[in-house]
Amino acid sequence: MEVVGAEEDAAMAALRERLAAGGQDHVLRFWPELDGAARRALAAELCHMDVAEINRFFRRARGDGGGAVAVAGLDARMEPVPRDVLGSASRDRGLVPRWESRGLAEIAGNRVAALLLAGGQGTRLGVPYPKGMCDVGLPSRKTLFHLQAQRLRRLQQMAEEQHGTACHIPWYIMTSGRTMESTKEFFQKHRYFGLKKENVIFFQQGMLPALGFDGKILLEEKGKIAMAPDGNGGLYRALGSHGIVDDMEQRGVQSVHVYCVDNILVKVADPRFIGFCLEKGADCGAKVVEKTNPTEPVGVVCRVDGVYQVVEYSEISLATAQRRGSDGRLLFNAGNIANHYFTTAFLKDVVNTYEPQLQHHVAEKKIPHVDITTGQLIQPEKPNGIKMEKFVFDIFQFSNLKDANDLPIQCEISPLVSYGGEGLEKYVKDREFRTPLIIDEDGIHELLKNGM
Ligand code: UTP
Repeated sequence: MEVVGAEEDAAMAALRERLAAGGQDHVLRFWPELDGAARRALAAELCHMDVAEINRFFRRARGDGGGAVAVAGLDARMEPVPRDVLGSASRDRGLVPRWESRGLAEIAGNRVAALLLAGGQGTRLGVPYPKGMCDVGLPSRKTLFHLQAQRLRRLQQMAEEQHGTACHIPWYIMTSGRTMESTKEFFQKHRYFGLKKENVIFFQQGMLPALGFDGKILLEEKGKIAMAPDGNGGLYRALGSHGIVDDMEQRGVQSVHVYCVDNILVKVADPRFIGFCLEKGADCGAKVVEKTNPTEPVGVVCRVDGVYQVVEYSEISLATAQRRGSDGRLLFNAGNIANHYFTTAFLKDVVNTYEPQLQHHVAEKKIPHVDITTGQLIQPEKPNGIKMEKFVFDIFQFSNLKDANDLPIQCEISPLVSYGGEGLEKYVKDREFRTPLIIDEDGIHELLKNGM
């Protein structure tokens, strides 16, 4: 017992010293008030924390030493995406079937994966569970996870029908400390929505402490650090630390479609988008939607000093946002909808080489915290600190990016019936319907008539 006690004391002393060296030992201020369990939990959390690295991230993000701060004169250095790397589902309509069949062939060959970013806290939505579990008000009450799983099933079926071989699309789901358990439970409860369990792969992104404006770590409770996921660009570090790129290679995956959980219309593993990127020989692609109104709050894909990036609407002047090309369309109109294509080889380079070069962006937030002098819990009314996040599109700068436009669809048709509009003739030909309605595997349901 004594030895254990002495070892614990030595470990605690080392931890305290490390925290003090990084100017963060205030997180132990309430240690004397904590019971045994709370002390163990706090010590466990802190011993995995690299305080020197956190301080370095803070200094870089805040701008000392060339961080991700607003760049002066951004407007003047922006150029639109050149036409030759753009494809459009409407303007290049004639090419779409070719892209689609190329994408379906890749899917049939088991060379395509989908990767869902589902590690966000969803604070703005304000539900106490992961966003993917939301009932989004569809007549069928399907959740976002459910819809996406069904789209994958239907797509597998389409590829199988066309190529006569069984195939599967591995579905990588990135969660965070905040969403992992409930997400996994939800999938188990719903039996993976008909997908094979071994093809749904969960992995967890990293977390970082929230900091005050002075760089001091904030406490959520007296014995608990205020932790937050490190942004959807935390993907790249997590891909490395959980061996996900290795898993992709072992499965023979060459193309990955990365997308966000809150997009109800998302065409998961879209064969047209994948086929387009393959035709262009791209290592990285972004599906975009045309921005038609200059004040629409959406980031645009463009080039800055010849390098691809997403410029947020808040980073440029209204005059730049309003500029129009000779065709009358907005000059910077490639609206980012966070639908990305990456080759596995490119992801491997990012994980091995580029990830450490990515800098955190700073988001100023209202962060509930324990006041370090009084021990009171404070619910701030204005931003009192920062969260540091990387963004998924931060790696465009390392790629030879291609863009593809998409036209969104708008009605509820079960993904099991149709992935993108195909196969509907047998349901609708020579028939008249009244909306609202659902078309699913059992047929057509006019909701008003059936009182659903
Ligand atoms: P949002 O920017 O909407 O962030 O995420 P959020 O955390 O979900 O919501 P707020 O800001 O707290 O209200 C866009 C996408 O990126 C994912 C989200 O799950 C969503 O699919 N994301 C965001 C992550 O996977 N990890 C993160 O750390 C942040």
